[in-house]
Amino acid sequence: MSREIKSKNITYTEGNVSQEHRSELNGHGAAILWFTGLSGAGKSTLAQAVEQALFKKGAHTYILDGDNIRFGLNRDLGFSPEDRTENIRRIGEVAKLMMDAGTICLTAFISPYIVDRKTARDITPEGKFIEVYTKCSLEECENRDPKGLYKKARAGEIPQFTGISAPYEAPENAELVVETDKHDVAACVEQVLAYLRKREILLED
Ligand code: ADX
Repeated sequence: MSREIKSKNITYTEGNVSQEHRSELNGHGAAILWFTGLSGAGKSTLAQAVEQALFKKGAHTYILDGDNIRFGLNRDLGFSPEDRTENIRRIGEVAKLMMDAGTICLTAFISPYIVDRKTARDITPEGKFIEVYTKCSLEECENRDPKGLYKKARAGEIPQFTGISAPYEAPENAELVVETDKHDVAACVEQVLAYLRKREILLED
């Protein structure tokens, strides 16, 4: 799909409410926590647990989750490389809007291609895109197999399944690497919160 802007004669209008104003009102900074990793690695689980912890602190948050978004906004997309690229392009744009609105937006998509994650990063203001590599061995993801999809993929029932018959390109410079096959959910959540404190997106302990 072309990245060209099709419309002509359009002008970008800046609003009057700045990021600083929104942060002041909310009591925290805005950011995108971009969870990436294999199916079954724990992206959704971790995003939900982090969101719950942030919500308890009074933070404004929202989760965009791969499976959920494919029921609605991205219902016209499948799992071909082109569709995955378009999936991530749209989500990058939506996450940016959420972040612009002052939230901490958490995204949980496999987002298997480095170049597509970079596209999402590149449209986001410097320092606001936090890539969280949700690292888990394929073996462990297959053991977990929470949706029974690896079993189906091994049986040849799901074409282009990430990790089996479609690639996953691991991040090389993620802001955070959480190893869900080595640490429990609570420890991984703490790792993410500690990073948000260090970056002063979260201001209190
Ligand atoms: S992405 O590759 O385009 O980023 P996304 O995160 O939206 O994928 O969706 C992945 C989810 O779709 C998986 O967690 C799984 O439940 C489901 N799924 C169905 N078919 C596939 C497939 N061929 N490859 C990967 N995930 C699939």
